Amino acid sequence: MKTVLLSDTEADLEQAAAWIQKGEVVGMPTETVYGLAADACNPEAVKKVFVAKGRPADNPLIVHISEMEQLPLLVEFVPDLAYRLAERFWPGPLTMILPKKACIPAITSGGLDTVGIRMPSHPIARRLITLSGTAIAAPSGNRSGYPSPTTAAHMLHDLNGRITAIIDGGACQVGVESTVICFESATSIRILRPGYITKEDLEQVAKTVILDSAILHEIQAGQMVRSPGMKYQHYSPKANVILVEGSYAAYCSYISQHVTPHSYALVFDGEEAGLPMPYFTYGKNSAEQAKQLFDCLRRCDEEGAVTVYVRAPERNGIGLAVYNRLIRAAGFEVIQL
Ligand code: TXA
Ligand code: MG
Repeated sequence: MKTVLLSDTEADLEQAAAWIQKGEVVGMPTETVYGLAADACNPEAVKKVFVAKGRPADNPLIVHISEMEQLPLLVEFVPDLAYRLAERFWPGPLTMILPKKACIPAITSGGLDTVGIRMPSHPIARRLITLSGTAIAAPSGNRSGYPSPTTAAHMLHDLNGRITAIIDGGACQVGVESTVICFESATSIRILRPGYITKEDLEQVAKTVILDSAILHEIQAGQMVRSPGMKYQHYSPKANVILVEGSYAAYCSYISQHVTPHSYALVFDGEEAGLPMPYFTYGKNSAEQAKQLFDCLRRCDEEGAVTVYVRAPERNGIGLAVYNRLIRAAGFEVIQL
């Protein structure tokens, strides 16, 4: 199969929508990361997504909508709190887990009786969903385990020859995947995966916002997992990622003792002075770090890095999403200085 690169013209989006209606899979930009889109209600199409990515069958896909009217067609029950969150954060990078209707096949929901729904804000994603006339299942468009794609080139690198087409919509603005939440009661929600919509943002609408323990801690054998994605090794480049926590001086001193021919530093913008090894920078604040992280991890691989010492980001606000991706990329290998 030759993977076709499409542009964002209406004619190209119509072509992409026609392929989705026929059960093919197409890469699409969203404001968070690129997704691998398929008709969420067509089990054969969704199967192609799992095969192309090499994704474990028990890891459910997020279903994307472009109109509020689609929501009650896909889920059994929409709590009042979900409507209020949608009003505040949709379209945008928030995914809500709700009880699924039978029209969502088991393959899409990874065998669960719930489904994650999100209304993206990216105009290309929205137009593609509308033209397709269906809800679109789309996991991040990377090979399973690898960092998520934030450009069409990243996605082509991972899935060239394995999918029908990719729509090139330029670089993603947010850079990390959506915030995933589930409902605990009429007034409380739980964050299963942190993202650009922060705990503090959600607290403006929900009385109680719980952070799931899997966000910062490794899942132990036998532990109940609310979000199957948390079980798997994720976001990892080929290089060995080591997360280093402490002051910049302590970081520099530590990596100076660990210089090898193919070791790289990944630090904040403005910290380049005096580093003892080649480096990349990934922004000076959490929003920039979210946007640049996955591209930086991929660039480390392009440079042939064997080990990457990452200066640990802040853990508050959007920083929690960046930290959550990094500890998984590092396989929970964190050096505390
Ligand atoms: O920003 C995003 O969310 C991107 C773009 C393409 O929209 N999509 C994305 O999908 O990140 P994916 O498949 O890479 O991550 C989906 C996450 C996984 O951790 C999965 O386990 C969790 O959401 N998830 C999906 N459905 C779920 C459900 N019913 N219950 C619990 N967790 C669920
Ligand atoms: Mg993913």
